[in-house]
Amino acid sequence: MLTVTVTYETLAPVYVIAAEFSTLVLDPAMGRIPTVLCVVSGDKVMSPRKSERCQLRLMIGVLTLTGFGLAMSVAARAANSDGWYTPDQATHGHIVFNSYCAECHRPDLTGAMGPALIGDAFLKTWLNRPLGDLYEFEHSKMPANNPGSVPDDKLWTITAFLLQKNGFPAGSSPLSAQALSRKLAKAQ
Ligand code: HEC
Repeated sequence: MLTVTVTYETLAPVYVIAAEFSTLVLDPAMGRIPTVLCVVSGDKVMSPRKSERCQLRLMIGVLTLTGFGLAMSVAARAANSDGWYTPDQATHGHIVFNSYCAECHRPDLTGAMGPALIGDAFLKTWLNRPLGDLYEFEHSKMPANNPGSVPDDKLWTITAFLLQKNGFPAGSSPLSAQALSRKLAKAQ
C-alpha cells in the first residue's frame, strides 16, 4: 500500500492540479474528459449505466479537489507572514481610536485640529522608518491634550488601525512590540 505524508509541499501541487481542473470544469469540453477517462479505466467497454456512474464519481472527485485547492489557497493567505496586524485587531483599533484620537484626527483619519493620519503626508513622514518611531511618537506625544495616557495594548490596536487605513496588509498575528524595529515599507 502507498503511504503519503501530507505536508504543505505535497499539497501545493494538488492545488495547482485542482486549479487547472477548475478551469476545465468551466469549459464545455470538460463533459468529454470523464468519458475518456472512464473508457480508458475500464478494460472492456462499459455499459451506458456503469459509464454514467463512473463519470459522476469522477466529476465529484474533481469538484472535491477544486474545493480543497481553494481551501488551501485561503489558508495560505491567512498565514501570510508579511502582514502587520490581524483584521480583528484593526477593527477593534478603530473603536479605540474613536474614543481617544478622533476628536482631533476625525474617525476617518482625514484630520481636524490634528493632521491627517492617512495619505501622502502621513506616509511621507513615517515610511521607511522603523515602526517604533511612529509608536514612540504616539506614546510620548499623543493624545496632544494628555500625552501618554493611552495604555500600551490600546495604542497597539490603534496603530494596527492606522496601518490598515494606510494600505499595509493584514497578517496572521497581531501587531505588538515585536515589530518595533520592523521598517515601515510597502511591498511593491
Ligand atoms: C487634542 C487633540 C489631539 C488628540 C486627542 C490626538 N492628537 Fe494626534 N496630533 C494632534 C496634533 C495637534 C498633532 C500635530 C503635532 C505634532 O506633530 O507635534 C498630532 C499629530 C499626530 C501624529 C503625527 C502625524 C504626522 O503625520 O506627523 C500621530 C501619528 C498622531 N497624532 C496620533 C494620534 C493618536 C494615535 C491619538 C490617540 C491616541 C491622537 N493622535 C490623539 C492632536 C491630537
